[in-house]
Amino acid sequence: MAEQMQVVEITQAGGPEVLRPTTRDVPVPGAGEILIKVAYAGVNRPDALQRAGLYNPPPGASDLPGLEAAGTVAAVGPNVSKWSVGDRVTALLPGGGYAEYALTHQDHALPIPGDMPMDQAAALCETAFTVYSNVMTRGGLQAGEVFLVHGGSSGIGTTAIQLASAMGARVFTTAGSDAKCAACRDLGAARAINYRDADFVEVLKAEGGADLILDMVGGDYLPRNVRALKNDGRLVQIAFLQGSKVALNFAQVMMRRLTITGSTLRPQSDGAKAKIAADLLTHVWPLYASGRIKPVMDSEFPLAEAAAAHARMEASEHIGKIVLKVG
Ligand SMILES: NC(=O)c1ccc[n+]([C@@H]2O[C@H](COP(=O)([O-])OP(=O)(O)OC[C@H]3O[C@@H](n4cnc5c(N)ncnc54)[C@H](OP(=O)(O)O)[C@@H]3O)[C@@H](O)[C@H]2O)c1
Repeated sequence: MAEQMQVVEITQAGGPEVLRPTTRDVPVPGAGEILIKVAYAGVNRPDALQRAGLYNPPPGASDLPGLEAAGTVAAVGPNVSKWSVGDRVTALLPGGGYAEYALTHQDHALPIPGDMPMDQAAALCETAFTVYSNVMTRGGLQAGEVFLVHGGSSGIGTTAIQLASAMGARVFTTAGSDAKCAACRDLGAARAINYRDADFVEVLKAEGGADLILDMVGGDYLPRNVRALKNDGRLVQIAFLQGSKVALNFAQVMMRRLTITGSTLRPQSDGAKAKIAADLLTHVWPLYASGRIKPVMDSEFPLAEAAAAHARMEASEHIGKIVLKVG
């Protein structure tokens, strides 16, 4: 196996131009880890936050960006029983996906569902882990409930619409253009609200309110989400694209028995991520294997053009997932 590999590193905090192709040593898997020869790596909004200096890697993780990848197992560390060299996997990574080889914990890799191609498989893990753990486990979504997800055309949004629909929820979503709204309806959303033309609070209130909201916007969406919830409703916060400091009347939370919670995936323990992976294998991978749901693919860039991929994502021109072709 090669000792050196092509990677894209973050040279300093800044815009997409700080992403630079270079070479690094191929990492060596430690106890419980596998080394993946990366075919494709997924691009996610948290990669752009890391690049901007706002989302540092957890201790021990690679400083290279990249939270998910698909490829084949190239080497296994001590105490690895689950995987063998040559296995085809898709994996959640602690970082380091923008590279020809990447390390992850053996329990954070999953088999590629059915005959899914590698580019699609690389687009699964960051959004599937995030959506399942926040919508199903933390949010407790039940069949028949009204579910609202903001940013419906995002990687997270396209996954959440499909998964919640498949689980029997009635899905509402918001997006910033008519074309994005049409794509969300094609994925199973009962109603996609162009937030430039209509107020999601009024739409949801006319429907009796939302049982569960998944939000990445924050800012003035926080008090508006509270108004859009039914009594006993739940709000799960996974990001704050418009800021995390707001004035909120918590009497509403008390009087209407609301629950406000949230989480971030990356700093969670290996055990917590392994539990999410096991849940996905049981409850979600069969849906991908059968083709009932599938990742929505926006575009593909060569690894060395990661900066262009980030520019596209941050312009919010995309619908679904952007991937880097590596191997
Ligand atoms: N908590 C976690 O563990 C976790 C894990 C993964 C991702 N996330 C977060 O989830 C979000 C989605 O991630 P992703 O990778 O799917 O990103 P993405 O595909 O880039 O989607 C972000 C979406 O947000 C909308 N948007 C962007 N800026 C906005 C703003 N200022 N106000 C309102 N809407 C805005 C855009 O849609 P429109 O054009 O419709 O506005 C865009 O489609 C990100 O904020 C990311 O940081 C959290």
